[in-house]
Amino acid sequence: MHDDEQSDVQQAAFRTSRRGFLKGVGIASAATVVLPGLSLGQEEAAGTPGLKEFGSGPLEISLKVNGDERKLSIEPRTTLLDALRTKLALTGTKEICDRGSCGGCTVLVDGRAMVSCMTLAIDMQGREITTAEGIGKDPGFAPLVDSFCEHDAAQCGFCIPGILVRSAALLKEIPNPTPLEIREGLAGNICRCGTYSRIFDAVEACAKKGGVA
Ligand code: FES
Ligand code: FES
Repeated sequence: MHDDEQSDVQQAAFRTSRRGFLKGVGIASAATVVLPGLSLGQEEAAGTPGLKEFGSGPLEISLKVNGDERKLSIEPRTTLLDALRTKLALTGTKEICDRGSCGGCTVLVDGRAMVSCMTLAIDMQGREITTAEGIGKDPGFAPLVDSFCEHDAAQCGFCIPGILVRSAALLKEIPNPTPLEIREGLAGNICRCGTYSRIFDAVEACAKKGGVA
């Protein structure tokens, strides 16, 4: 496909997906659009060659979560957060704001921290998803979990799974972060109890003891 044709397709996908998402539907990928009232497998959206349409019935998809391939049936509009919590019973991933502003629902996708409430499950096929449960059972991250416990980093604890996941990503990317890098790295995660100083201390202490593997 020529660049200008590809650009037209991408622009059409963006316009359609915004409209569709506001109606409670979503996008499957940059070249995959979900529209209401269409059945799975229909292709070539009217006037939009190359786009594939899904909806509005359930889809069978497969997600690789914490090392396991999991099959689930979802509506195309289902967020990764809802799929994890309601379909896979992985409730360590918290729903707090449900609009990408608190970090409570943070998971790793191919090792990078992402907010799962703003991510469509259908887009995550073929990706490596790690939740707080996966961090908790991975021996490589045990020093980080231990450090959170040693520093009594939680009050109510509701924000902690998301902060733990983002801290794991931070220490993988920057093994010896400065205090400022820790604060900046965790800036997207809100703790309403305000235990930030103990959280930052826990991450810094973990790094000083050798970090995560
Ligand atoms: S619940 Fe996803 S960012 Fe707040
Ligand atoms: S420990 Fe309560 S929100 Fe962070």
